[in-house]
Amino acid sequence: MEIRKMQKEDILQLAELEKLCFSDPWSVSAFEYELNNPLSLWLVAVSGETVAGYVGSQTVIDESDMMNIAVAPAFRRQGIAKRLIDSLILGLQERGSHTLTLEVRSSNEPAISLYRQLGFIQVGRRPNYYRNPKEDALILRKEWS
Ligand SMILES: CC(C)(COP(=O)(O)OP(=O)(O)OC[C@H]1O[C@@H](n2cnc3c(N)ncnc32)[C@H](O)[C@@H]1OP(=O)(O)O)[C@@H](O)C(=O)NCCC(=O)NCCS
Repeated sequence: MEIRKMQKEDILQLAELEKLCFSDPWSVSAFEYELNNPLSLWLVAVSGETVAGYVGSQTVIDESDMMNIAVAPAFRRQGIAKRLIDSLILGLQERGSHTLTLEVRSSNEPAISLYRQLGFIQVGRRPNYYRNPKEDALILRKEWS
C-alpha cells in the first residue's frame, strides 16, 4: 500500500468512495477545488490502481483542519487510516503547522477510537452540526511542537 499526494486521476474513485462512506458526500468538483487549493494537502492510500482510502486537510498559517478521511470497506482494520493520518501529520509538520483539528459525528465510534489512539483530545462539541441525520459534532485536536 503506497501513500502519496492526491492526483487528478484519483478524483473519480474518491467521489465514489465518498458516496459509499457518507450520507452527505463531497462532489467531484469539490475534490477538484481542493486539488488546486494551495492551502490543502490531500493524501491517498493506493493499492495498484485502486484508491483504498484518503485523508484531506487545509492549513492556515500554522493550524490545520482535517476535512475528511475514509477507507473503503474492503480495506478497513488494516491500519490504513492510521498510516494516512501519520503521513498527513508529517506533511503538515513540513509546512510549519503545529496542530490538527477535526469534527466527528458523536456516534462514530470507529473514527473516535482511531483518533483517540492517535493522541487526539476532545476540545469541544458543536450541537446539531451535521445533517442527514442531524447530530452533534465532537471537536478533537492533536498538537505537536
Ligand atoms: C474510521 C475509518 C476511516 C477507519 O479506517 P481503518 O483504516 O479501518 O482504521 P485503522 O485500521 O487504521 O484503525 C486504527 C484504529 O482505529 C480504531 N478503529 C478503526 N475501526 C474501528 C472499528 N470499526 N471499531 C472500533 N475501533 C476501530 C482501532 O483502535 C484501530 O486499531 P486496531 O485495529 O489496532 O484495534 C473507516 O472506518 C471509515 O472509512 N469509516 C467511514 C468514514 C468515516 O466515518 N470517516 C471519519 C469521518 S470523521
